[in-house]
Amino acid sequence: MCGIVGYVGPRSSMDVLVAGLARLEYRGYDSAGVAVVSENDGLVSQKRAGKLAVLRDDVDAHPLASGGTGIAHTRWATHGAPTDANAHPHLADGGKLALIHNGIIENFHELREELIASGEQFLSETDSEVAAILLAHAFRETGDLTTAMQQVVKRLEGAFTLLVVHADKPGVVVGARRNSPLVIGVGEGENFLGSDVAAFVAFTHKALSLGQDQIVTLTESAIDVITFDGEEVHPPEFTVDWDASAADKGGWSSFMAKEISEEPEAVANTIRGRLSSEGQVVIPELEALDVGRIDRVIFIACGTAAYAAMLGAYAMEKWSGIPVTVELSHEFRYREPVVGPGTLVVSVSQSGETMDTLMAVRFANDAGAQTLAICNTQGATIPRESTATVYTHAGPEVAVASTKAFLSQAVAVYLLGLYLGQHRKVVSAEVAASIAKDLHALPEQIQEMVETGPRIKELAGWMADTRSVLYLGRHVGYPVALEGALKLKELAYIHAEGFAAGELKHGPIALIEPGQIVFVIVPSPRDPSSLHSKVVSNIQEIRARGARVIAIAEKGDAAVLPYADEVITIPPASPFMEPLLAVVPLHIFGMELAGAKGLDIDQPRNLAKSVTVE
Ligand code: G6P
Repeated sequence: MCGIVGYVGPRSSMDVLVAGLARLEYRGYDSAGVAVVSENDGLVSQKRAGKLAVLRDDVDAHPLASGGTGIAHTRWATHGAPTDANAHPHLADGGKLALIHNGIIENFHELREELIASGEQFLSETDSEVAAILLAHAFRETGDLTTAMQQVVKRLEGAFTLLVVHADKPGVVVGARRNSPLVIGVGEGENFLGSDVAAFVAFTHKALSLGQDQIVTLTESAIDVITFDGEEVHPPEFTVDWDASAADKGGWSSFMAKEISEEPEAVANTIRGRLSSEGQVVIPELEALDVGRIDRVIFIACGTAAYAAMLGAYAMEKWSGIPVTVELSHEFRYREPVVGPGTLVVSVSQSGETMDTLMAVRFANDAGAQTLAICNTQGATIPRESTATVYTHAGPEVAVASTKAFLSQAVAVYLLGLYLGQHRKVVSAEVAASIAKDLHALPEQIQEMVETGPRIKELAGWMADTRSVLYLGRHVGYPVALEGALKLKELAYIHAEGFAAGELKHGPIALIEPGQIVFVIVPSPRDPSSLHSKVVSNIQEIRARGARVIAIAEKGDAAVLPYADEVITIPPASPFMEPLLAVVPLHIFGMELAGAKGLDIDQPRNLAKSVTVE
């Protein structure tokens, strides 16, 4: 949540800051603001409710400053409505100090009362403004921004990334982080700060990731990092492996359209270099785990990532013979599960910052489990805090609703399942080779599904007035049903539910009335588990009650044709690969229905891509 950018260097800081915010807008988009400090003009700032474009138009019409040192923020509101006053930066010290914040200061109420009692006035309803005023006090006493920050962070509880600038300290930005992300971009004669690397990847690929409870003091020529207790730290450096252009729309109507078109490539990138044609999985990152000790795997994740984990878990349990369960991160942590060194807790997170998942990882670490992160974002917090990390290499995902990340996460779990199976010698060479063949064929088959776009757009066109859509699937089709429903809720604001088709008769069938649209994910008629005929029976049951059935079924599946109103076909594939094909038209459907309703596809209401509050 909330995007943060900081810059010190010779460029026009407004240009760097606004460009950084544009790349971070997916983190929150209800208001935006900037503050710039220069020797000549002191501190100047502007902030506006609404999307970044409102602020951008404003500063284009009334330029603030050309050079200087700056900080900028795009907000996802927690405390206080999205208004100009609640937007960041918050000013203090008579307008000489500006602060931006991501996270939640949990003890803000008592701090606010204390400051009001001492005569301070608040201009906003935010929790963040207390930090600005406390910093102003501490700066007045110490005359040093870093020392002031050190004093203030000790008074704050909760989650925060803070960046501060002061008119008396041109050329310096001080940042601090606890439980919220902050990454440093290392330039030549200039340096950057960002909530993630997207903020500065257009300017530098060299980055440092700031650890928990650390403070950074940034100038043009120096990056000094200390702990909250003042000990010097040397954060690990890494190179950002994607290009700035990868985070541009590149001619597509939306980031989501672009990212769906990248689904084949994302899967190919996840597999690349990790799976031989004979089926040998090579993932050196996994060597940090004590694989021989693992007797149980628990996946933790939220949203789409949880559905990808669910899907992958079916394959993992089958191929590895290890018991595998999947839990929502926020539920896992609070039920205080019994885990130990034999438990591998696998977090799945595109951003690597989701607070619920991060907290669950910390719980697992503290409980002595081995932790593995499946993540797409370098420099993120969850990989830093896990025993091992497998990056999905799907490239930057900007649209808030996740698409290519889902496929790459599920495929990463498949690879992990096969790896564990090989390690435990429960997968034969023949089975491994056949899985490898299927996985290597996937990108091309996914491309075929991406090409169903125009047909799905047509379907979405006549459904724009729909008020409710149901999704049914069984076994590996079940997480696909959940994912399809989530996309529709997120993007088209339509009530949508995904059900396990076997559960239909236990309640959901009461929802079926004439005209109800139901997507059904149909397994292949070649499926040895005989689920196909059960799902076809489910279709008949709902058709008999007047539902309009849209089946996603294998090409040539004659049993479905008589009962479905529409059939979207998928190429023949093995049972574990089918769901990775069936999900693609559902991603497209969510996007197209949002488009048909004239909604903002990339930035749906009330959501943010990186949810860094609990
Ligand atoms: C948010 C997003 C979802 C995403 C979930 C998990 O809720 O809106 O699209 O699936 O977070 O995100 P993660 O970065 O942990 O995969």
